[in-house]
Amino acid sequence: MEKLEAALIKAREMRKAALSSSDTLHERPGARGLTEARKPGRDTADWTDLPEVEITSQRALNYRLTTLLGGKDATPYDMLRSRAIRIMREKGWSRLAVTSPDAGCGKSTVSLNLALSLARQKDLKILLIDLDLRRPSLHRLLDYVPTRSVFDVLRGEAKLEEASARIGTNLIVAMNAEPCKQPAELLQSAQARDALAEIEQRWQPDIMIFDMSPILASDDNVGFLPNVDCALLVAAAESTSMPNIDICEKEIAQLTNVLGIVLNKCRYADDSVGYSYGTYG
Ligand SMILES: Nc1ncnc2c1ncn2[C@@H]1O[C@H](COP(=O)(O)OP(=O)(O)OP(=O)(O)O)[C@@H](O)[C@H]1O
Ligand SMILES: [Mg+2]
Repeated sequence: MEKLEAALIKAREMRKAALSSSDTLHERPGARGLTEARKPGRDTADWTDLPEVEITSQRALNYRLTTLLGGKDATPYDMLRSRAIRIMREKGWSRLAVTSPDAGCGKSTVSLNLALSLARQKDLKILLIDLDLRRPSLHRLLDYVPTRSVFDVLRGEAKLEEASARIGTNLIVAMNAEPCKQPAELLQSAQARDALAEIEQRWQPDIMIFDMSPILASDDNVGFLPNVDCALLVAAAESTSMPNIDICEKEIAQLTNVLGIVLNKCRYADDSVGYSYGTYG
């Protein structure tokens, strides 16, 4: 565990040095940037038209939505939020993917907690999208089955509102009602890229978060990551191996900017919820 933390710190230092040099940055064509003022037009969608879901405290407890429980359990996410906002503002980024080497590291839990934490800043509009099209889970975390799925939206066969619900007035969660067939082809298609641009134009989120599938399980990330500005890598402290973290970090770095590594499920971490992380910058 200590070895893993030390290796992560070293990797973070190396990445930090690389990120501070502008020629290693990935620049996504059409990136909007977090600071660019929204310009609502006639076609801008009204977020309050979406159905609202409420997360009970029992549900927050059962699914480790610690951001909602408040107190010191929410602190690691609030720190992650603040660093993410700072770096994304500085670099002009607005799209963040959350991925991991293998399954079950906590991507969906981290994605939803981070989105909830960001949404506590009422001046920010957050759109969280379930892009783990093989094993979608955000609908289960929220106990909400949408009439259509995100993959229908990416194919141009449904509207975002048919796959989404809102939490409060500034967080939308777009979900899948079932797994998708051939997700890799869809995720790397021009159709999906255009659908995302249209969603961004119509809904005007400040930050889009994508809950992805694990890197080592499929090609889904390879095809999709060029559509985001940066990615967080979630590793499970006691099950993800250091070589796998290293391989995945390098793979992400070839496709987009690595925002940081979240070391999840740390039984012996200083805080009670079991997170430790390193963001660069
Ligand atoms: N910090 C934590 N400590 C202990 N258990 C956790 C922690 N974070 C998440 N979990 C649990 O681990 C399991 C997997 O979490 P989650 O579904 O978020 O992972 P995932 O990476 O999205 O999985 P998948 O690859 O299947 O999509 C869940 O039961 C979740 O409650
Ligand atoms: Mg998941």
